Amino acid sequence: MTATTTSPEKAAGPDIRFEAGRRRTFAVISHPDAGKSTLTEALALHARLIQDAGVTHGKASRHGTVSDWMGVERDRGISISSAALQFEHHGTVLNLVDTPGHADFSEDTYRVLAAVDCAVMLIDAAKGFEPQTLKLLQVCKQRGLPIVTVINKWDRPGLDALELIDEVGRRTDMLPVPLTWPAGSADSFEGLIDLRHDQSIGLEAVEGGALPARESDVSVSELPDESAALWEAAEESAELVGSANGGFSPEAFRAAEQTPVLFTAAARNYGVRQLLDVIGELAPPAVTRTSVHGEPRDVDSDFSGFVFKVQSGQNSAHRDHIAFMRICSGMFERGMVVTNARTKKPFATKYAHRMVGRSRQGVDTACPGDVVGLVNAASLRVGDTLYSGEPVEFAGIPHFAPEHFTVARALDPGRYKQFQRGIGQLEHEGVVQVFRSERRGDQAPVLAAVGPLQFEVAEQRMREEFGAPVKLEALDYTLIRTLAEGANTAPLSFRGGETLHRGDGEVVALFADRFKLTHFDEDFPDVSMKVVGL
Ligand code: G4P
Repeated sequence: MTATTTSPEKAAGPDIRFEAGRRRTFAVISHPDAGKSTLTEALALHARLIQDAGVTHGKASRHGTVSDWMGVERDRGISISSAALQFEHHGTVLNLVDTPGHADFSEDTYRVLAAVDCAVMLIDAAKGFEPQTLKLLQVCKQRGLPIVTVINKWDRPGLDALELIDEVGRRTDMLPVPLTWPAGSADSFEGLIDLRHDQSIGLEAVEGGALPARESDVSVSELPDESAALWEAAEESAELVGSANGGFSPEAFRAAEQTPVLFTAAARNYGVRQLLDVIGELAPPAVTRTSVHGEPRDVDSDFSGFVFKVQSGQNSAHRDHIAFMRICSGMFERGMVVTNARTKKPFATKYAHRMVGRSRQGVDTACPGDVVGLVNAASLRVGDTLYSGEPVEFAGIPHFAPEHFTVARALDPGRYKQFQRGIGQLEHEGVVQVFRSERRGDQAPVLAAVGPLQFEVAEQRMREEFGAPVKLEALDYTLIRTLAEGANTAPLSFRGGETLHRGDGEVVALFADRFKLTHFDEDFPDVSMKVVGL
Protein backbone atom coordinates (compact mmCIF):
# COMPACT_ATOMS: atom_id res chain seq x y z
CA MET A 1 0.00 0.00 0.00
CA THR A 2 1.05 3.59 -0.53
CA ALA A 3 3.11 5.04 2.27
CA THR A 4 1.56 7.65 4.51
CA THR A 5 4.74 9.59 4.96
CA THR A 6 5.20 12.81 3.06
CA SER A 7 7.17 12.20 -0.09
CA PRO A 8 10.03 14.55 -0.97
CA GLU A 9 8.02 15.74 -3.99
CA LYS A 10 5.17 16.79 -1.77
CA ALA A 11 7.34 19.34 -0.02
CA ALA A 12 7.62 21.22 -3.32
CA GLY A 13 3.92 20.84 -4.13
CA PRO A 14 1.67 17.85 -4.61
CA ASP A 15 3.04 15.20 -6.91
CA ILE A 16 0.14 14.35 -9.17
CA ARG A 17 1.16 10.78 -9.89
CA PHE A 18 1.61 10.11 -6.20
CA GLU A 19 -1.75 11.70 -5.35
CA ALA A 20 -3.62 9.96 -8.19
CA GLY A 21 -1.99 6.70 -7.12
CA ARG A 22 -3.50 6.93 -3.65
CA ARG A 23 -7.02 7.83 -4.81
CA ARG A 24 -9.76 5.18 -4.70
CA THR A 25 -12.94 6.47 -6.28
CA PHE A 26 -15.91 4.15 -5.87
CA ALA A 27 -19.68 3.90 -5.52
CA VAL A 28 -21.97 1.49 -3.72
CA ILE A 29 -24.66 -0.16 -5.84
CA SER A 30 -27.56 -2.06 -4.33
CA HIS A 31 -31.28 -2.61 -4.29
CA PRO A 32 -33.09 -0.22 -1.90
CA ASP A 33 -32.98 -1.36 1.73
CA ALA A 34 -29.91 -3.59 1.35
CA GLY A 35 -28.14 -1.18 3.72
CA LYS A 36 -26.31 1.27 1.43
CA SER A 37 -26.86 4.29 3.68
CA THR A 38 -25.95 2.30 6.76
CA LEU A 39 -22.77 1.04 5.12
CA THR A 40 -21.85 4.51 3.81
CA GLU A 41 -22.13 5.91 7.30
CA ALA A 42 -20.22 2.98 8.77
CA LEU A 43 -17.38 3.54 6.28
CA ALA A 44 -17.32 7.25 7.04
CA LEU A 45 -17.43 6.54 10.76
CA HIS A 46 -14.44 4.23 10.52
CA ALA A 47 -12.61 6.83 8.56
CA ARG A 48 -13.60 9.33 11.27
CA LEU A 49 -15.32 11.67 8.86
CA ILE A 50 -18.53 11.47 10.74
CA GLN A 51 -17.85 11.07 14.40
CA ASP A 52 -20.70 10.11 16.62
CA ALA A 53 -22.33 13.37 15.63
CA GLY A 54 -25.90 12.51 14.94
CA VAL A 55 -25.27 11.23 11.44
CA THR A 56 -25.34 7.64 12.54
CA HIS A 57 -27.70 4.78 11.98
CA GLY A 58 -31.43 5.23 11.86
CA LYS A 59 -33.45 6.41 8.92
CA ALA A 60 -35.06 9.19 10.89
CA SER A 61 -31.83 10.85 11.94
CA ARG A 62 -30.25 10.21 8.54
CA HIS A 63 -32.92 11.83 6.54
CA GLY A 64 -32.96 14.74 8.92
CA THR A 65 -29.27 15.37 8.57
CA VAL A 66 -27.83 14.05 5.36
CA SER A 67 -30.16 14.44 2.50
CA ASP A 68 -33.34 16.38 3.10
CA TRP A 69 -32.58 18.74 0.27
CA MET A 70 -35.79 18.37 -1.58
CA GLY A 71 -39.39 18.07 -0.66
CA VAL A 72 -39.82 14.84 -2.58
CA GLU A 73 -36.95 13.32 -0.65
CA ARG A 74 -38.34 14.52 2.64
CA ASP A 75 -41.89 13.40 1.92
CA ARG A 76 -40.92 10.03 0.54
CA GLY A 77 -37.98 9.28 2.79
CA ILE A 78 -35.76 8.55 -0.17
CA SER A 79 -32.42 9.89 -1.22
CA ILE A 80 -32.20 11.50 -4.64
CA SER A 81 -29.29 13.86 -4.39
CA SER A 82 -25.81 12.55 -4.90
CA ALA A 83 -22.82 13.84 -3.06
CA ALA A 84 -19.27 12.63 -2.74
CA LEU A 85 -17.66 11.86 0.57
CA GLN A 86 -13.91 11.93 0.87
CA PHE A 87 -11.92 10.30 3.61
CA GLU A 88 -8.45 8.96 4.25
CA HIS A 89 -7.67 5.43 5.20
CA HIS A 90 -4.12 4.31 5.92
CA GLY A 91 -2.64 6.75 3.46
CA THR A 92 -5.18 6.22 0.69
CA VAL A 93 -7.79 8.84 -0.15
CA LEU A 94 -11.21 7.28 -0.63
CA ASN A 95 -13.80 9.13 -2.70
CA LEU A 96 -17.18 7.53 -2.12
CA VAL A 97 -19.61 8.88 -4.67
CA ASP A 98 -23.13 8.52 -3.36
CA THR A 99 -25.88 7.11 -5.55
CA PRO A 100 -29.62 7.62 -5.18
CA GLY A 101 -31.38 4.86 -3.31
CA HIS A 102 -34.55 4.66 -5.37
CA ALA A 103 -34.76 2.63 -8.57
CA ASP A 104 -36.59 5.47 -10.32
CA PHE A 105 -33.36 7.44 -10.22
CA SER A 106 -31.17 4.71 -11.64
CA GLU A 107 -30.14 6.99 -14.51
CA ASP A 108 -28.35 9.12 -11.90
CA THR A 109 -26.60 6.02 -10.60
CA TYR A 110 -25.63 5.20 -14.16
CA ARG A 111 -23.95 8.60 -14.47
CA VAL A 112 -22.15 8.12 -11.17
CA LEU A 113 -20.81 4.80 -12.42
CA ALA A 114 -19.16 6.65 -15.29
CA ALA A 115 -17.23 8.68 -12.72
CA VAL A 116 -15.85 5.92 -10.50
CA ASP A 117 -13.08 3.35 -10.84
CA CYS A 118 -14.66 0.59 -8.77
CA ALA A 119 -18.07 -0.46 -7.41
CA VAL A 120 -19.08 -2.08 -4.16
CA MET A 121 -22.08 -4.31 -4.84
CA LEU A 122 -24.10 -4.65 -1.68
CA ILE A 123 -26.37 -7.64 -1.26
CA ASP A 124 -28.90 -8.32 1.48
CA ALA A 125 -27.99 -11.75 2.89
CA ALA A 126 -31.65 -12.72 3.15
CA LYS A 127 -32.60 -11.64 -0.37
CA GLY A 128 -29.64 -12.32 -2.62
CA PHE A 129 -29.70 -10.55 -5.97
CA GLU A 130 -32.62 -8.15 -6.45
CA PRO A 131 -33.74 -6.38 -9.65
CA GLN A 132 -32.04 -3.04 -9.05
CA THR A 133 -28.76 -4.76 -8.14
CA LEU A 134 -28.90 -6.75 -11.36
CA LYS A 135 -29.61 -3.69 -13.49
CA LEU A 136 -26.70 -1.75 -12.01
CA LEU A 137 -24.47 -4.81 -12.18
CA GLN A 138 -25.04 -4.83 -15.95
CA VAL A 139 -23.90 -1.20 -16.14
CA CYS A 140 -20.73 -2.05 -14.19
CA LYS A 141 -20.07 -5.03 -16.46
CA GLN A 142 -20.54 -2.90 -19.56
CA ARG A 143 -18.00 -0.44 -18.24
CA GLY A 144 -15.65 -3.21 -17.12
CA LEU A 145 -15.64 -1.83 -13.57
CA PRO A 146 -14.02 -3.98 -10.90
CA ILE A 147 -16.62 -5.01 -8.32
CA VAL A 148 -16.24 -5.82 -4.64
CA THR A 149 -19.19 -7.93 -3.49
CA VAL A 150 -20.43 -7.30 0.05
CA ILE A 151 -23.00 -9.58 1.64
CA ASN A 152 -24.68 -7.48 4.32
CA LYS A 153 -27.02 -8.05 7.28
CA TRP A 154 -25.20 -11.24 8.24
CA ASP A 155 -26.49 -10.64 11.78
CA ARG A 156 -29.96 -11.54 10.51
CA PRO A 157 -31.26 -14.90 9.35
CA GLY A 158 -30.37 -15.20 5.68
CA LEU A 159 -29.41 -17.52 2.87
CA ASP A 160 -26.60 -20.03 3.17
CA ALA A 161 -23.12 -18.52 2.66
CA LEU A 162 -22.00 -21.15 0.15
CA GLU A 163 -25.22 -20.77 -1.84
CA LEU A 164 -24.76 -17.01 -1.89
CA ILE A 165 -21.20 -17.38 -3.20
CA ASP A 166 -22.55 -19.66 -5.89
CA GLU A 167 -25.20 -17.11 -6.84
CA VAL A 168 -22.59 -14.33 -7.00
CA GLY A 169 -20.64 -16.44 -9.49
CA ARG A 170 -23.68 -17.19 -11.63
CA ARG A 171 -25.10 -13.67 -11.67
CA THR A 172 -21.87 -11.74 -12.16
CA ASP A 173 -20.14 -14.15 -14.46
CA MET A 174 -17.02 -13.47 -12.40
CA LEU A 175 -15.17 -15.80 -10.10
CA PRO A 176 -16.21 -14.99 -6.51
CA VAL A 177 -13.29 -15.16 -4.10
CA PRO A 178 -14.18 -14.62 -0.43
CA LEU A 179 -11.66 -12.47 1.45
CA THR A 180 -13.54 -12.77 4.72
CA TRP A 181 -15.68 -15.63 5.94
CA PRO A 182 -18.30 -15.37 8.71
CA ALA A 183 -18.14 -17.43 11.87
CA GLY A 184 -21.77 -18.11 12.67
CA SER A 185 -24.74 -16.20 11.36
CA ALA A 186 -27.75 -14.23 12.61
CA ASP A 187 -27.71 -14.17 16.42
CA SER A 188 -24.63 -16.34 16.56
CA PHE A 189 -22.55 -14.20 14.17
CA GLU A 190 -19.39 -14.04 16.28
CA GLY A 191 -16.76 -12.76 13.93
CA LEU A 192 -14.87 -13.12 10.69
CA ILE A 193 -11.99 -15.10 9.36
CA ASP A 194 -9.74 -12.70 7.48
CA LEU A 195 -8.62 -15.03 4.71
CA ARG A 196 -6.01 -12.65 3.35
CA HIS A 197 -4.17 -12.54 6.64
CA ASP A 198 -5.25 -15.91 8.00
CA GLN A 199 -6.68 -14.32 11.14
CA SER A 200 -9.75 -15.17 13.17
CA ILE A 201 -11.30 -11.97 14.45
CA GLY A 202 -13.97 -11.87 17.15
CA LEU A 203 -16.35 -8.92 16.77
CA GLU A 204 -18.42 -7.03 19.27
CA ALA A 205 -20.74 -4.12 18.54
CA VAL A 206 -19.96 -0.96 20.49
CA GLU A 207 -22.83 1.29 21.55
CA GLY A 208 -25.23 -0.45 19.23
CA GLY A 209 -23.07 0.31 16.20
CA ALA A 210 -22.42 3.98 16.93
CA LEU A 211 -18.69 3.24 17.17
CA PRO A 212 -16.43 0.89 15.20
CA ALA A 213 -16.81 -2.75 16.27
CA ARG A 214 -14.36 -4.04 18.88
CA GLU A 215 -12.04 -6.65 17.40
CA SER A 216 -10.19 -9.42 19.22
CA ASP A 217 -7.92 -12.26 18.12
CA VAL A 218 -9.70 -15.57 18.39
CA SER A 219 -7.85 -18.69 19.41
CA VAL A 220 -10.27 -21.46 18.56
CA SER A 221 -8.70 -24.02 20.92
CA GLU A 222 -9.46 -21.76 23.89
CA LEU A 223 -13.13 -21.26 23.06
CA PRO A 224 -16.06 -23.04 24.69
CA ASP A 225 -17.27 -26.04 22.64
CA GLU A 226 -20.21 -24.35 20.96
CA SER A 227 -18.18 -21.37 19.73
CA ALA A 228 -15.24 -23.56 18.76
CA ALA A 229 -17.54 -25.70 16.60
CA LEU A 230 -18.85 -22.58 14.91
CA TRP A 231 -15.37 -21.28 14.05
CA GLU A 232 -14.22 -24.71 12.90
CA ALA A 233 -17.24 -25.01 10.61
CA ALA A 234 -16.42 -21.56 9.23
CA GLU A 235 -12.84 -22.63 8.50
CA GLU A 236 -14.09 -25.73 6.71
CA SER A 237 -16.53 -23.80 4.51
CA ALA A 238 -13.90 -21.19 3.70
CA GLU A 239 -11.46 -23.92 2.71
CA LEU A 240 -14.12 -25.53 0.55
CA VAL A 241 -14.68 -22.31 -1.39
CA GLY A 242 -10.93 -21.69 -1.52
CA SER A 243 -10.23 -25.06 -3.10
CA ALA A 244 -13.11 -24.67 -5.57
CA ASN A 245 -12.45 -21.06 -6.62
CA GLY A 246 -8.69 -20.79 -6.18
CA GLY A 247 -6.84 -17.84 -4.75
CA PHE A 248 -7.46 -14.16 -5.05
CA SER A 249 -5.65 -12.32 -7.83
CA PRO A 250 -5.58 -8.50 -7.64
CA GLU A 251 -5.01 -8.39 -11.41
CA ALA A 252 -8.06 -10.58 -12.09
CA PHE A 253 -10.12 -8.35 -9.76
CA ARG A 254 -9.02 -5.20 -11.57
CA ALA A 255 -9.78 -6.85 -14.89
CA ALA A 256 -13.31 -7.60 -13.57
CA GLU A 257 -12.73 -11.34 -13.88
CA GLN A 258 -12.81 -12.02 -10.13
CA THR A 259 -14.96 -10.38 -7.50
CA PRO A 260 -13.69 -10.41 -3.92
CA VAL A 261 -16.51 -11.19 -1.48
CA LEU A 262 -16.81 -9.83 2.06
CA PHE A 263 -19.42 -10.40 4.74
CA THR A 264 -20.70 -7.52 6.85
CA ALA A 265 -23.29 -6.43 9.34
CA ALA A 266 -23.10 -2.73 8.59
CA ALA A 267 -25.55 -1.80 11.34
CA ARG A 268 -23.07 -3.21 13.88
CA ASN A 269 -19.99 -2.10 11.93
CA TYR A 270 -18.91 -5.72 11.51
CA GLY A 271 -16.58 -6.29 8.58
CA VAL A 272 -16.47 -2.59 7.71
CA ARG A 273 -12.79 -2.12 8.53
CA GLN A 274 -11.96 -5.12 6.38
CA LEU A 275 -13.92 -3.58 3.51
CA LEU A 276 -12.04 -0.29 3.89
CA ASP A 277 -8.75 -2.20 3.84
CA VAL A 278 -9.75 -4.08 0.70
CA ILE A 279 -10.72 -0.88 -1.11
CA GLY A 280 -7.60 0.93 0.07
CA GLU A 281 -5.20 -1.90 -0.75
CA LEU A 282 -6.76 -3.53 -3.80
CA ALA A 283 -9.12 -1.17 -5.63
CA PRO A 284 -7.63 0.59 -8.66
CA PRO A 285 -6.25 4.11 -8.32
CA ALA A 286 -7.05 6.95 -10.70
CA VAL A 287 -5.27 6.14 -13.95
CA THR A 288 -4.96 7.38 -17.52
CA ARG A 289 -8.32 8.03 -19.22
CA THR A 290 -8.83 7.68 -22.92
CA SER A 291 -10.42 10.55 -24.83
CA VAL A 292 -13.32 10.16 -27.21
CA HIS A 293 -10.72 10.12 -30.00
CA GLY A 294 -8.84 7.25 -28.37
CA GLU A 295 -5.96 9.37 -27.07
CA PRO A 296 -4.64 8.72 -23.58
CA ARG A 297 -4.77 11.57 -21.06
CA ASP A 298 -2.19 10.73 -18.41
CA VAL A 299 -2.99 11.69 -14.85
CA ASP A 300 -0.05 14.07 -14.78
CA SER A 301 -0.89 15.90 -17.99
CA ASP A 302 -2.81 19.21 -18.07
CA PHE A 303 -5.98 19.47 -16.04
CA SER A 304 -9.11 17.70 -17.30
CA GLY A 305 -12.35 16.43 -15.83
CA PHE A 306 -15.90 15.67 -16.82
CA VAL A 307 -19.30 16.53 -15.42
CA PHE A 308 -21.40 13.55 -14.37
CA LYS A 309 -24.16 15.32 -12.50
CA VAL A 310 -25.75 18.74 -12.52
CA GLN A 311 -28.05 19.74 -9.74
CA SER A 312 -29.80 22.86 -8.67
CA GLY A 313 -32.03 24.13 -5.93
CA GLN A 314 -30.57 21.75 -3.37
CA ASN A 315 -31.96 23.71 -0.50
CA SER A 316 -33.56 27.04 0.01
CA ALA A 317 -30.30 28.59 1.21
CA HIS A 318 -28.43 27.69 -2.00
CA ARG A 319 -30.62 28.15 -5.05
CA ASP A 320 -27.93 27.63 -7.60
CA HIS A 321 -26.51 25.06 -9.95
CA ILE A 322 -23.82 22.67 -8.92
CA ALA A 323 -22.01 20.54 -11.45
CA PHE A 324 -20.25 17.52 -10.00
CA MET A 325 -17.01 16.91 -11.83
CA ARG A 326 -14.70 13.92 -11.70
CA ILE A 327 -11.11 14.99 -12.19
CA CYS A 328 -9.23 12.87 -14.73
CA SER A 329 -5.85 14.54 -15.04
CA GLY A 330 -3.76 17.36 -13.66
CA MET A 331 -4.25 19.46 -10.60
CA PHE A 332 -7.49 21.31 -10.06
CA GLU A 333 -6.96 24.70 -8.48
CA ARG A 334 -9.90 26.77 -7.45
CA GLY A 335 -10.10 29.93 -9.53
CA MET A 336 -8.54 28.38 -12.61
CA VAL A 337 -10.27 29.18 -15.88
CA VAL A 338 -10.91 26.04 -17.89
CA THR A 339 -12.45 25.37 -21.30
CA ASN A 340 -15.69 23.53 -21.91
CA ALA A 341 -14.93 21.11 -24.77
CA ARG A 342 -18.55 21.20 -25.98
CA THR A 343 -18.97 24.96 -26.23
CA LYS A 344 -15.25 25.89 -26.44
CA LYS A 345 -16.15 28.64 -23.96
CA PRO A 346 -14.20 29.43 -20.81
CA PHE A 347 -15.58 28.46 -17.40
CA ALA A 348 -14.25 30.16 -14.28
CA THR A 349 -14.05 27.85 -11.29
CA LYS A 350 -14.45 30.56 -8.72
CA TYR A 351 -16.43 28.48 -6.26
CA ALA A 352 -15.57 24.84 -5.87
CA HIS A 353 -16.92 22.67 -3.12
CA ARG A 354 -16.83 19.25 -1.70
CA MET A 355 -20.22 18.15 -0.44
CA VAL A 356 -20.71 16.47 2.88
CA GLY A 357 -24.41 15.92 3.20
CA ARG A 358 -25.89 19.38 3.14
CA SER A 359 -22.78 21.22 4.13
CA ARG A 360 -20.20 22.40 1.66
CA GLN A 361 -16.51 22.63 2.22
CA GLY A 362 -14.49 24.91 -0.01
CA VAL A 363 -11.92 23.07 -2.13
CA ASP A 364 -8.74 24.86 -3.13
CA THR A 365 -7.01 21.99 -4.89
CA ALA A 366 -8.06 18.52 -5.99
CA CYS A 367 -6.40 15.62 -7.78
CA PRO A 368 -7.28 12.97 -10.38
CA GLY A 369 -9.95 10.72 -8.91
CA ASP A 370 -11.46 13.48 -6.76
CA VAL A 371 -14.96 14.82 -7.20
CA VAL A 372 -15.64 18.51 -6.80
CA GLY A 373 -18.88 20.44 -6.98
CA LEU A 374 -18.60 23.53 -9.17
CA VAL A 375 -20.99 26.23 -8.07
CA ASN A 376 -22.69 28.70 -10.46
CA ALA A 377 -22.48 26.07 -13.14
CA ALA A 378 -25.62 26.86 -15.12
CA SER A 379 -23.69 26.53 -18.39
CA LEU A 380 -22.45 23.00 -17.67
CA ARG A 381 -24.23 19.83 -18.73
CA VAL A 382 -23.93 16.19 -17.87
CA GLY A 383 -21.13 14.71 -19.98
CA ASP A 384 -19.25 18.00 -20.52
CA THR A 385 -15.45 17.79 -20.50
CA LEU A 386 -13.51 20.65 -18.91
CA TYR A 387 -9.81 21.09 -19.56
CA SER A 388 -6.92 23.47 -19.46
CA GLY A 389 -3.88 23.45 -21.75
CA GLU A 390 -3.94 20.64 -24.30
CA PRO A 391 -7.58 20.16 -25.47
CA VAL A 392 -9.33 16.88 -24.71
CA GLU A 393 -12.85 15.52 -24.81
CA PHE A 394 -14.07 12.42 -23.01
CA ALA A 395 -16.95 10.31 -24.25
CA GLY A 396 -20.37 11.60 -23.20
CA ILE A 397 -22.52 9.61 -20.81
CA PRO A 398 -25.14 7.60 -22.70
CA HIS A 399 -28.80 7.85 -21.77
CA PHE A 400 -30.78 5.20 -19.96
CA ALA A 401 -33.78 4.01 -21.94
CA PRO A 402 -36.80 5.82 -20.47
CA GLU A 403 -39.92 3.76 -19.86
CA HIS A 404 -42.39 6.50 -18.93
CA PHE A 405 -43.53 9.36 -21.12
CA THR A 406 -45.72 12.37 -20.47
CA VAL A 407 -46.64 15.65 -22.14
CA ALA A 408 -45.96 18.78 -20.08
CA ARG A 409 -48.05 21.93 -20.47
CA ALA A 410 -47.87 25.20 -18.59
CA LEU A 411 -50.92 25.54 -16.34
CA ASP A 412 -50.69 29.30 -16.58
CA PRO A 413 -50.12 30.38 -20.22
CA GLY A 414 -48.96 33.77 -18.92
CA ARG A 415 -45.88 32.08 -17.47
CA TYR A 416 -44.72 30.54 -20.71
CA LYS A 417 -41.23 32.08 -20.45
CA GLN A 418 -40.69 30.55 -17.00
CA PHE A 419 -42.07 27.26 -18.33
CA GLN A 420 -39.52 27.23 -21.15
CA ARG A 421 -36.66 28.13 -18.82
CA GLY A 422 -37.66 25.44 -16.31
CA ILE A 423 -38.03 22.67 -18.88
CA GLY A 424 -34.68 23.64 -20.41
CA GLN A 425 -33.00 23.52 -17.01
CA LEU A 426 -34.49 20.12 -16.08
CA GLU A 427 -33.37 18.83 -19.45
CA HIS A 428 -29.79 19.90 -19.09
CA GLU A 429 -29.54 18.64 -15.54
CA GLY A 430 -30.88 15.33 -16.81
CA VAL A 431 -33.74 15.29 -14.27
CA VAL A 432 -35.90 14.07 -17.16
CA GLN A 433 -35.20 13.66 -20.85
CA VAL A 434 -37.06 16.15 -23.05
CA PHE A 435 -38.29 15.44 -26.58
CA ARG A 436 -39.81 17.99 -28.92
CA SER A 437 -41.47 17.86 -32.32
CA GLU A 438 -42.97 20.31 -34.79
CA ARG A 439 -46.25 18.50 -34.41
CA ARG A 440 -46.44 19.09 -30.66
CA GLY A 441 -44.78 22.50 -30.58
CA ASP A 442 -42.59 23.97 -27.86
CA GLN A 443 -45.52 24.52 -25.53
CA ALA A 444 -46.11 20.77 -25.18
CA PRO A 445 -42.77 18.93 -24.95
CA VAL A 446 -42.67 15.23 -24.10
CA LEU A 447 -40.86 14.37 -20.88
CA ALA A 448 -39.34 10.91 -20.54
CA ALA A 449 -38.15 9.13 -17.40
CA VAL A 450 -36.85 5.82 -16.16
CA GLY A 451 -39.20 5.97 -13.17
CA PRO A 452 -42.30 8.07 -12.45
CA LEU A 453 -40.76 9.69 -9.37
CA GLN A 454 -38.59 11.69 -11.79
CA PHE A 455 -41.81 13.35 -13.03
CA GLU A 456 -42.74 14.18 -9.45
CA VAL A 457 -39.42 15.93 -8.98
CA ALA A 458 -39.86 17.76 -12.30
CA GLU A 459 -43.39 18.86 -11.40
CA GLN A 460 -42.35 20.08 -7.99
CA ARG A 461 -39.38 22.01 -9.29
CA MET A 462 -41.38 23.61 -12.09
CA ARG A 463 -43.85 24.86 -9.50
CA GLU A 464 -41.54 25.86 -6.66
CA GLU A 465 -38.32 26.83 -8.37
CA PHE A 466 -39.44 28.23 -11.71
CA GLY A 467 -42.89 29.50 -10.73
CA ALA A 468 -44.41 27.66 -13.69
CA PRO A 469 -46.77 24.92 -12.51
CA VAL A 470 -47.32 22.23 -15.11
CA LYS A 471 -50.00 19.75 -16.06
CA LEU A 472 -48.62 16.34 -17.00
CA GLU A 473 -50.59 14.08 -19.35
CA ALA A 474 -49.28 10.53 -19.44
CA LEU A 475 -48.66 8.96 -22.85
CA ASP A 476 -49.06 5.23 -23.17
CA TYR A 477 -45.74 4.59 -24.89
CA THR A 478 -43.46 1.95 -23.48
CA LEU A 479 -40.60 1.65 -25.96
CA ILE A 480 -38.04 4.02 -27.40
CA ARG A 481 -35.50 3.71 -30.20
CA THR A 482 -33.11 6.25 -31.67
CA LEU A 483 -33.38 6.51 -35.40
CA ALA A 484 -30.06 6.17 -37.11
CA GLU A 485 -29.92 6.21 -40.89
CA GLY A 486 -32.98 7.42 -42.75
CA ALA A 487 -34.37 9.36 -39.76
CA ASN A 488 -35.38 12.23 -42.05
CA THR A 489 -37.76 9.98 -43.96
CA ALA A 490 -39.59 8.80 -40.84
CA PRO A 491 -43.08 10.26 -40.34
CA LEU A 492 -43.86 12.58 -37.41
CA SER A 493 -46.62 10.26 -36.33
CA PHE A 494 -47.77 6.78 -37.20
CA ARG A 495 -50.17 4.27 -35.69
CA GLY A 496 -49.12 3.61 -32.09
CA GLY A 497 -46.17 5.99 -32.10
CA GLU A 498 -44.43 9.18 -33.12
CA THR A 499 -40.98 10.60 -33.78
CA LEU A 500 -39.41 13.46 -31.85
CA HIS A 501 -36.08 15.26 -31.39
CA ARG A 502 -33.88 15.18 -28.33
CA GLY A 503 -31.78 18.21 -27.34
CA ASP A 504 -28.55 16.49 -28.37
CA GLY A 505 -29.78 16.20 -31.96
CA GLU A 506 -30.87 12.54 -31.83
CA VAL A 507 -34.18 11.63 -33.45
CA VAL A 508 -36.17 9.14 -31.40
CA ALA A 509 -39.27 7.09 -32.06
CA LEU A 510 -41.72 6.15 -29.30
CA PHE A 511 -43.88 3.05 -29.56
CA ALA A 512 -46.93 1.87 -27.64
CA ASP A 513 -45.68 -1.74 -27.69
CA ARG A 514 -43.49 -4.28 -29.49
CA PHE A 515 -46.08 -4.87 -32.22
CA LYS A 516 -46.06 -1.20 -33.20
CA LEU A 517 -42.28 -1.33 -33.29
CA THR A 518 -42.39 -4.34 -35.63
CA HIS A 519 -44.96 -2.63 -37.88
CA PHE A 520 -42.78 0.48 -38.06
CA ASP A 521 -39.79 -1.67 -38.99
CA GLU A 522 -41.79 -3.26 -41.81
CA ASP A 523 -43.36 -0.01 -43.05
CA PHE A 524 -40.10 1.98 -43.05
CA PRO A 525 -37.34 -0.45 -43.95
CA ASP A 526 -34.93 2.38 -44.84
CA VAL A 527 -34.98 3.79 -41.31
CA SER A 528 -32.55 1.94 -39.09
CA MET A 529 -33.07 1.96 -35.34
CA LYS A 530 -30.83 1.64 -32.30
CA VAL A 531 -31.68 0.63 -28.76
CA VAL A 532 -31.25 3.56 -26.35
CA GLY A 533 -28.72 3.07 -23.52
CA LEU A 534 -29.66 0.04 -21.50
P1 G4P B 1 -30.58 1.56 1.81
O1 G4P B 1 -29.80 2.82 2.00
O2 G4P B 1 -29.85 0.54 0.99
O3 G4P B 1 -31.98 1.76 1.35
O4 G4P B 1 -30.71 0.83 3.24
P2 G4P B 1 -30.56 1.41 4.70
O5 G4P B 1 -29.14 1.66 5.03
O6 G4P B 1 -31.52 2.51 4.91
O7 G4P B 1 -30.99 0.13 5.52
C1 G4P B 1 -32.28 -0.45 5.38
C2 G4P B 1 -32.66 -1.09 6.70
O8 G4P B 1 -31.77 -2.18 6.95
C3 G4P B 1 -32.53 -0.17 7.89
O9 G4P B 1 -33.53 -0.56 8.81
C4 G4P B 1 -31.18 -0.50 8.46
O10 G4P B 1 -31.04 -0.22 9.82
C5 G4P B 1 -31.15 -2.00 8.21
N1 G4P B 1 -29.77 -2.52 8.11
C6 G4P B 1 -28.77 -2.08 7.32
N2 G4P B 1 -27.68 -2.84 7.50
C7 G4P B 1 -27.99 -3.76 8.42
C8 G4P B 1 -27.28 -4.83 9.03
O11 G4P B 1 -26.11 -5.09 8.74
N3 G4P B 1 -27.95 -5.59 9.93
C9 G4P B 1 -29.25 -5.34 10.26
N4 G4P B 1 -29.82 -6.14 11.15
N5 G4P B 1 -29.95 -4.34 9.72
C10 G4P B 1 -29.33 -3.57 8.80
P3 G4P B 1 -34.85 0.27 9.05
O12 G4P B 1 -35.70 -0.52 9.95
O13 G4P B 1 -35.41 0.71 7.73
O14 G4P B 1 -34.34 1.56 9.75
P4 G4P B 1 -33.61 1.68 11.15
O15 G4P B 1 -34.56 2.40 11.97
O16 G4P B 1 -33.25 0.33 11.64
O17 G4P B 1 -32.40 2.45 10.81
